[in-house]
Amino acid sequence: MADKYAVIGNPVEHSLSPAIHAEFARATGQDIVYGKILAPLDGFRAAAFRFRDEGGKGLNVTLPFKHEAWHLAGQRSGFALAASAVNTLTFHGAEVIGDNTDGIGLVRDLTQNLRVPLRGRRVLLMGAGGASFGVVEPLLREQPELMVVANRTLEKAITLVGHFGQFQHYAAQGLVARSYEALAGSQFDLVINATSAGLANAMPPLPTGIFAPGAMAYDMVYAKRTPFMAFAQEQGARVSDGLGMLVEQAAEAFFIWRGVYPETRAAMAMLRRQMPK
Ligand code: ATR
Repeated sequence: MADKYAVIGNPVEHSLSPAIHAEFARATGQDIVYGKILAPLDGFRAAAFRFRDEGGKGLNVTLPFKHEAWHLAGQRSGFALAASAVNTLTFHGAEVIGDNTDGIGLVRDLTQNLRVPLRGRRVLLMGAGGASFGVVEPLLREQPELMVVANRTLEKAITLVGHFGQFQHYAAQGLVARSYEALAGSQFDLVINATSAGLANAMPPLPTGIFAPGAMAYDMVYAKRTPFMAFAQEQGARVSDGLGMLVEQAAEAFFIWRGVYPETRAAMAMLRRQMPK
């Protein structure tokens, strides 16, 4: 019988994960079924355990349950330890193992798909919510020159920087928190938008001139052209949405579950064909 997996979230209707994992399974010849679970906002734990008790082998966890999934996991591995968020659960008998593949997905998309090196580069991460927590450690381990976290509510950026203090030595000039106003006059080689502003057709108050020559502007949002992407393009930066991150984090989850690393180009091309232009 095929092994069962699913993505769990609220909302989950428009999740692309079933299509991505179906493509990975086809390409690698793995016999799996992959579904969608809409969990009530107060019912994540019960829904996850019901799936496990019905024979489910693993779950991808999406908003708003990544922090609850971190609590649910009896063992946390890799980047999940510090991220305070889990996006991949694996059920081994009574054991629940939590991983976080979001950051590695972002790093792979940047370095392998987009050919944006991180080592020695100046990186600006916008936002200090769950999306940022998930990617800080893997980004720092690429040894950028400097990583600045900017947030509308500065205290949250300061909290994030304190939380990841043990990893800041990976960046030559460390990990620092800034307000958006304090960015005026600075330039970055990579600017990552991990805020939810784009979903509301807004953008963080970035000063002009923030992009160094040849800089990359990366928005974690996909299936949407955000005001940040438009601003970055006007300012002369290269621009990417977060579709590659989505596919690469899924590939890493597939590898954790199946021990086989899927090729991601076919899944990416399939999704691009379905995206609004
Ligand atoms: P997530 O888990 O998706 O990161 P979150 O924890 O609600 O969601 O965090 C959303 C992030 O987007 C926060 O950093 C938020 O800034 P504040 O901490 O100041 O609220 C940021 N954000 C949302 N809308 C924004 C906007 N219009 N301009 C700038 N930042 C915005």
